[in-house]
Amino acid sequence: MTESMEPAVGLPAAAEAVEVARGLGEEGARRRRDELVPIIRRANDLYYVADAPELSDAEYDRLMRDLVALETAYPVLVTPDSPTQRVGAAPTGTFGEVVHQRPMLSLGNVFDEDELRAFDLRVRRGLGLPPAPAPAPDLRYVAELKIDGLAISLRYERGRFIQGATRGDGTTGEDVTANLRTISVLPERLREAATAEVRGEVYMPKAEFARINVEREEAGLPTYANPRNSGAGSLRQQDPSVTAARRLSSWCYQLIEGASDGHAGRPSVASQSEALARLSALGLPVNPDRAEGLDIDGVCRFLEEWREKRHGLPYETDGVVVKVDRYDQQERLGLVARAPRWAIAYKFPPEQVETVLEDIVPYVGRTGTLTPVAHMRPAKVAGSTVARATLHNLDEVRRKDLRIGDWIVLQKAGDVIPEVVRSMPERRVGTERVFEMPATCPVCGTAVVRDEGAVRHYCPNQKCPARLAQEFAHFAGRGGMDIEGAGWAVLEQLLARGLVKTRGDFYRLSVDDLVSLDRFARKSAENLKASIERSRRRPLARVLNSLGIPQVGEQTAIDLASWIAARWPAEGMGPGQWTALVARSLPAVTAQEFQEVPGIGAVVAGSVAGYFGAPETAAVLVDLADAGVVAEPPARRVAPGSGAAGRLAGKTVVVTGTLSGFDRAAAEEAIRAAGGRASGSVSKATSYVVAGENAGSKLAKAQELGVPVLDEEGFRRVLAGEEP
Ligand code: IVH
Repeated sequence: MTESMEPAVGLPAAAEAVEVARGLGEEGARRRRDELVPIIRRANDLYYVADAPELSDAEYDRLMRDLVALETAYPVLVTPDSPTQRVGAAPTGTFGEVVHQRPMLSLGNVFDEDELRAFDLRVRRGLGLPPAPAPAPDLRYVAELKIDGLAISLRYERGRFIQGATRGDGTTGEDVTANLRTISVLPERLREAATAEVRGEVYMPKAEFARINVEREEAGLPTYANPRNSGAGSLRQQDPSVTAARRLSSWCYQLIEGASDGHAGRPSVASQSEALARLSALGLPVNPDRAEGLDIDGVCRFLEEWREKRHGLPYETDGVVVKVDRYDQQERLGLVARAPRWAIAYKFPPEQVETVLEDIVPYVGRTGTLTPVAHMRPAKVAGSTVARATLHNLDEVRRKDLRIGDWIVLQKAGDVIPEVVRSMPERRVGTERVFEMPATCPVCGTAVVRDEGAVRHYCPNQKCPARLAQEFAHFAGRGGMDIEGAGWAVLEQLLARGLVKTRGDFYRLSVDDLVSLDRFARKSAENLKASIERSRRRPLARVLNSLGIPQVGEQTAIDLASWIAARWPAEGMGPGQWTALVARSLPAVTAQEFQEVPGIGAVVAGSVAGYFGAPETAAVLVDLADAGVVAEPPARRVAPGSGAAGRLAGKTVVVTGTLSGFDRAAAEEAIRAAGGRASGSVSKATSYVVAGENAGSKLAKAQELGVPVLDEEGFRRVLAGEEP
């Protein structure tokens, strides 16, 4: 996907458009809004899900601008699910503008080794060096993985992070400072009081991309096409808590030192390799997977090395950036158009394979949605063997004209999720069959429903065994109540025999019930019974996750649990009493209040409030309580207002080195939240020094002065009010 295909961002509600909108009157505006929203939604779906927009960027921008204008003229028309509020859609133009100190350049691309060697030839010519294979010991390249994310620019002044921006058009970007502050690998403070502009890439880790897409698919939202898209969408949120919930990460690769008047000052480094080392020393994240001191053969070996290995990385890379190392040589080479002559991006070929679509099978999901799934002849693509891929919905099958028996092109979206790109009609032999959605649920036989204007088909039977089986598998699964031995085979039997009809029924099973299952002896039945008993008490976060609340995954469940524990302290209560209190209290919590949970934005808050407010949920909670399931309050975490204040009252704490679970800002915030003082220098008055990895002189000083030194575990214990 090219840069230019992104939905417009920072689109202002052009003044005339707002005027026009006002002219419609509120009712007229509402009608126009109702026309626009489905068109924009469909365009978003096609963009995110299908990678195949129907509208041109310009058309899309116009529609979006009109919608923004309608909402600007009549703010009552803004709904939480409006495309203007949506991830990845154009924000309402309220990001400030940042003019970059130096333009953010783009890179020329090459697609094979010959083109790469031609780049080397141009570089040598530009520097007055002989063509390869003549040796050129003074010319050295740095090879870095090209991160498929969103370019950012970070401004640090005297060591403090003061502003961050997207690339925008290269000259002017959007001010996304608040969102960048939520990215934990980017420090609030550098290890030195340096003034510099740092550039890098923000990306969404593959695992996070997969997690979000599972949540979105289950919640009936369109899935993202790749981590780049979802990362970009997440960074451009108006609400930083949404960004925070997305767990983005970053690698930095460019250092521009000097004062904000644009003067370069005296740079402390003379080459890209030194710049990377310096960035790292300043405490910024720098990708360790790189190579320095290379000639062009070395660069080619680096490409080969990563061609397959890249699939095993936790983030997506689509190529290798090759840079002339020495700055003086970079300067001599200069720029063409907006791209430097001293750097080039080698792009890995997209990994697509051809295989046979053997069948299309409708699967019934946890929410009843029938999802057509491609069953394919197994094929190796991007590092693993793939035999199944979701086709999302019937429209998608039709749009791609997929027929059972077709040869198809398969790839992995964002290197993670298998995706059928297209069919190959030219290879048809006439025996291929058109797929139809079944009229009745393949599992329970209930008539399948498709709501007017909606894309999804679903089984409306709340008690459909397929739905229950998935819900219960999730409930008993590892992220949930973790009932060891309750796998699919067992679950299916328990459901088929009517032994389990509700979640609570797991806890009502007797050993005799279990002995009746296929291939169950007394011993295995006793084991399963014991593991069910063990699962009766689980941390609240697990219990919450086990419920399968739409939009709530493991991390959100953890965040939610901490918030609940802070709001309804468990002090002086037995776990049973506390569980009952929480179960009684949750239905009354509003979406607005759920937005107080760090990491939860408007959309998730609405979903959580809707879930707990529903009468079916009340029945689920009563059933679990009746079955004796008990949620344990989470170990106290320090959050402002969580009651932890005072634990470090009167204490001065110095944090040094790198901690794995906190960045510097978070550690200092935790200290302050506990009533302590976070200081930068060690003296006899220091109460504790928290030493992470690579701690240096401050640790030495603490040891010299006899100040107690804590490791990260000790720090956590102190924050939790325990002995270090
Ligand atoms: S250097 C003039 N290094 O790729 C220097 N860019 O196609 C330009 N990118 O805009 C950037 N990883 O967003 C550089 N290690 C890396 C990179 C990288 C990803 C992105 C960056 C840039 C785009 C150019």
